[in-house]
Amino acid sequence: MRIAVQAESDANESRVAATPETVKALTALGAEVAVEAGAGLKSAIPDEAYAEAGAVIAQGPAAAAAGADVLLRVRRPSAAEVAGVKPGAAVIAIMDPYEHVDALQSLAGAGVSAFSMELIPRITRAQSMDVLSSQANLAGYRAIIDAAAAYDRAIPMMMTAAGSVQPARIFIMGVGVAGLQAIATARRIGGVVTATDVRPATKEQVLSLGAKFIAVEDEEFAAAETAAGYAKPMSPEYQAKQAELTASHIAKQDIVVTTALIPGRAAPVLITAEMVRSMRPGSIIVDLAVERGGNCELSRPGETVVSENGVKIIGNLNVAGRVPATASFLYAKNLVSFLQPLIDPASHELAITWDDEIIKATLLTRDGALVHPNFQAPADSGVQTAPAAEVAAGTGEAGPQTPDPAGAPAKAKKARPAKDSNPAGS
Ligand code: NAI
Repeated sequence: MRIAVQAESDANESRVAATPETVKALTALGAEVAVEAGAGLKSAIPDEAYAEAGAVIAQGPAAAAAGADVLLRVRRPSAAEVAGVKPGAAVIAIMDPYEHVDALQSLAGAGVSAFSMELIPRITRAQSMDVLSSQANLAGYRAIIDAAAAYDRAIPMMMTAAGSVQPARIFIMGVGVAGLQAIATARRIGGVVTATDVRPATKEQVLSLGAKFIAVEDEEFAAAETAAGYAKPMSPEYQAKQAELTASHIAKQDIVVTTALIPGRAAPVLITAEMVRSMRPGSIIVDLAVERGGNCELSRPGETVVSENGVKIIGNLNVAGRVPATASFLYAKNLVSFLQPLIDPASHELAITWDDEIIKATLLTRDGALVHPNFQAPADSGVQTAPAAEVAAGTGEAGPQTPDPAGAPAKAKKARPAKDSNPAGS
């Protein structure tokens, strides 16, 4: 069995889908691994390191893909890039599938089985495959590092002979995977940290990290978590109360990191232009939700906006990719965890259990058709889709529908429309 790893064709993508460590793991599963020359350079992995781990270095994407049973990528490859793989080969990446149905159709047309890593269900068995978590965790960490770098003052308290420096007040809005890591990182560098969320379960998590929890804790708050563990969209009444609380708190903050997302919807706007105006000059806002419309009214994807009163609003994209070597290390391990059960230990060949919950949740294309239930076209559209039996019940039940905030390129201030089949939303 041959596993190919191509270099990323998007110039803004710094991650790579394999590391020397995972090359060894894949080789141990009986595979021959081909890595495109230069694939790891932006993650500080030279070709020699892959070669030492047992990989064959292929010159160019076509040479890497040639005859592959499996193609590993960070982002969705084009049909041209998968040309040369074996018919039915597994192509595994962060596919960013929503609003890219044409690209998925092209992959279907190329005859590959395309798997979307951000659709991995959040079940215990799949935790080690969860790219949303592995990358969001790094994004939360990097958001604090970016904020600290842009901040004109020191973060920790310092008692010096020249005088005492007050610690920075850091506010984290949205305490999912990214927010929790942001709290932990902000505490480690000496910030005085507060955090908010609409899910009651986060209160204890915030307190256990040594931060203070601030939220409108009414009846709606008590019921704000969906069965899948995500936030519900809040009522206008709740939003008004939340805005009032936020407005008074935010005026006293030096750094704010926002991570609030609701599956299948635009990110909620939590920081208005007026709230930004209330902050003192030199304060920092890092909007990790910027790729989903943003939590701050003034943030712009890929830009740092400086408000009239001197507040910097950072809207970096692919924030996990700003820690490329670690992001690649974790993503590549997610891929091995996903791939291992697909390989028969005796024959060392691909042996995919098509009715497995994880496979059904992630499989986008198979046998020339777009098979995922979230992408079934109306009957009269002329789009080729799989027979109903192929997309049997349960397939749409598994995964969160959130695109990876750390994975895909920006949808500049544009929200993906809510999906009726969204299991995680309200
Ligand atoms: P997310 O990226 O969808 O959202 C980030 C945070 O924003 C969430 O905590 C959400 O409650 C919060 N939020 C939404 N609207 C808000 C508002 N108006 N104001 C303030 N905060 C708001 O969340 P993520 O990081 O994907 O985590 C979602 C859930 O999945 C959590 O319960 C987490 O513990 C769980 N999870 C489960 C895993 C597993 O079982 N394998 C792995 C990772 C996460």
